[in-house]
Amino acid sequence: MKRYAHIIGWGKYAPENVLTNDDLSRMVDTSDEWIRTRTGIQTRHIVGEGETTATMGLRAAQAALEVANVTPDQIDLIIVATASPDYPTPATACLVQDALGATRAGAFDLAAGCSGFVYGLSVASGLIEAGTYDTILVIGAETISHAIDWSDRGTCVLFGDGAGAVVLQASESPGGVLASVMGADGSGAELLYVPAGGCRRPTSADTVAQGLHFLRMEGRPVFRFAVNIMPRASRLVCERAGLSLDDIELFIPHQANERIIQASARALKIPAERMFTNLERYGNTSAASIPIALCEAVEAGLIRRGDHLVLVGFGAGLTWAAAAVQWSMPWPVPTRPWWRTTLRWLYYRWASLRSWTLRTLRRMDTQIRKPFSHDAENGDQQPHKEDSTK
Ligand code: COA
Repeated sequence: MKRYAHIIGWGKYAPENVLTNDDLSRMVDTSDEWIRTRTGIQTRHIVGEGETTATMGLRAAQAALEVANVTPDQIDLIIVATASPDYPTPATACLVQDALGATRAGAFDLAAGCSGFVYGLSVASGLIEAGTYDTILVIGAETISHAIDWSDRGTCVLFGDGAGAVVLQASESPGGVLASVMGADGSGAELLYVPAGGCRRPTSADTVAQGLHFLRMEGRPVFRFAVNIMPRASRLVCERAGLSLDDIELFIPHQANERIIQASARALKIPAERMFTNLERYGNTSAASIPIALCEAVEAGLIRRGDHLVLVGFGAGLTWAAAAVQWSMPWPVPTRPWWRTTLRWLYYRWASLRSWTLRTLRRMDTQIRKPFSHDAENGDQQPHKEDSTK
């Protein structure tokens, strides 16, 4: 029996702090008028104290699980698409897995810039269709504000923080993710990149002094790439799904720049209202932009059961990706009985306690073993020869 990957839950999170164009005009030589006319952005959300990519991803994931009526122990895999992980290693997905108490789930991060969420959707739907997994959580989460040089007006006005998530589940009913495409052109890597902090240019006092840990972008070539690739990827994914552009009720494009979205609509010869936009309130939230936009489109009642959608993104890499989706969920979502919400709340409290206990036991274990490792360093406990080759 053929298996289909349906989106059965969705959720988003945006930090409370809002940064307006006027706020920015007090920080750099820019104006509300310039930002609005060149990008369409009016405000963006910026993380507050204690907020990170993992904490925002967790909040979006919890909201998506609530809609899906799925408990964390049912999740087989967690993919976090991000360009701004909590740590270079381990994966932010592991932090989300731990905080959710998703004890059965594998977890990894996916680095495909702003296309990351659609890449994640493509990978997850493939694993579901192949029968490898039944339930996968795909999150797009970003704290881009920490990689921004707040004195560079060419980049600081564009980006914002946030997270969005979906739950994908296997079903034998046709629908869900019908087709996807992923593409890359690494010759454009330096058009949008963070020069230092990787093995090519490890972080040092010098790289920090030169600001090489901040995002660098060449706006014009990225713009040209975007207006070319968005219509191409949209057409290709429709072709693969056996749909025409007229079959698509709503496009959910990456929310980078209103002019890019309008130019894509013109190139596809579709009315601008079939392109969903919310970038005026969020700016470019990178891998989080498409899932946040998807949530808002659903919550605005713009997506009905049976509708066809195209999710299409581009970003650092350079990368691009698109997915054609047939929506299969009702809106509004039926309200859950109170006890389900309570159970969920209790589950998350248990997950926190579990995480704390495991971390404490690990610390105690390390303390107990310390004297032995000291002995070994002094030559008192030499490993056997065959052990050392293991
Ligand atoms: N405020 C005021 N002026 C600004 C400015 C700002 N925030 N940022 C740039 N400028 C100036 C430039 O210095 C330039 O001045 P100059 O003509 O004296 O040199 C002028 O505005 C025009 O710059 P330009 O780069 O041609 O503007 P643009 O119309 O191409 O718009 C972007 C700039 C960044 C908005 C646009 O190129 C863009 O959106 N590119 C794609 C970026 C993107 O999507 N990145 C994320 C990919 S996931």
